[in-house]
Amino acid sequence: MNSNFKIYVAPIAGVTDYSYRRILNEFAPDLVFTEMVSSNAVMMANEKTVGQLLRLNPGDGVQIFGKDIEYMKDSAKFAEGAGAKKIDVNLGCPMPKIVKNGYGSALLADPEHVKKMMYEIRESLSDDTTLSMKIRIGYKQHKNPLEMAEIAQELGLSHITIHGRTREQMYSGVANWEVIKRVKEEVSIPVIGNGDLFTAEDALERANMAGVDGVMLARGIFGNPWLIRQIREIMETGEVKTQVTVDDRIDMAIKHIGYVMEDVFDREFYFEIRKHLCWYIKGLKYSSQMKNLINRSQNYEELIEILENLREINKKCEV
Ligand SMILES: Cc1cc2nc3c(=O)[nH]c(=O)nc-3n(C[C@H](O)[C@H](O)[C@H](O)COP(=O)(O)O)c2cc1C
Repeated sequence: MNSNFKIYVAPIAGVTDYSYRRILNEFAPDLVFTEMVSSNAVMMANEKTVGQLLRLNPGDGVQIFGKDIEYMKDSAKFAEGAGAKKIDVNLGCPMPKIVKNGYGSALLADPEHVKKMMYEIRESLSDDTTLSMKIRIGYKQHKNPLEMAEIAQELGLSHITIHGRTREQMYSGVANWEVIKRVKEEVSIPVIGNGDLFTAEDALERANMAGVDGVMLARGIFGNPWLIRQIREIMETGEVKTQVTVDDRIDMAIKHIGYVMEDVFDREFYFEIRKHLCWYIKGLKYSSQMKNLINRSQNYEELIEILENLREINKKCEV
């Protein structure tokens, strides 16, 4: 396996926030992206976007979305000013509220606009800031991923990430890595494959098949930051060494609560943490009962108590 093989963590709205990125970075991926940031919100100086979404750990990449070239350019520069050295443009989001405004995957239908927009953004950034794009394989069919990759190559972007689904598929069906492979064979720019990587074995198999330069993880890292390390292990040694224990999961859940408390203590973030906790404990004995308690809990202390109880029950079951 190529020793330069990259492991990236995707931009994931509602998940790769500042606190979870702190945890993910501890597993040393090559790059972690922020949740997608609206260029309109940045330009309107929306406080939430500016303050929370662009709160960066060193090295974090920022993903922006939008269509207006001036807004996109200015947002990229704004992110650069906030410390981002790696900027990505979202050309893949399938959500109706995004697509109906012509953003995200809707832009796949307009390669001319994409080329102009990416060119202008590239021009506005300093040379040591990298620019990349993240696409789906098409809108309704596998239409023009190669055309997009050629634009990325022509403009000297750092890489292109390809999610092997069409917009219409949303998240259903399986990601088509054959299409990713065909694009990779045609361009010299680094191609990062994305879609359905839930285990280290998935990553090894898909990466070998498609010959990509790296993988981007998304739903696979929900409650499972260890996946980053496991993929590194399997790529380097052919086997996974890291096994995740009950203690690992509970400790990580508690650590995550700690990071959120250090970060920002408000109701919204309190709601955000609960889904992460439910993901960490997935598969443990009595996790469904505990999920109900987590979702009804009123404060952080209660959450920690629930997690400690779950640890104890599962430890007892182990012996
Ligand atoms: C809840 C959720 C939020 C997402 N947010 C973003 C986003 O902000 N930007 C983006 O480019 N992709 C986003 N995606 C898509 C993922 O980055 C990824 O392309 C997709 O989930 C496929 O990878 P997977 O099958 O490994 O999950 C999101 C996906 C999910 C499930």
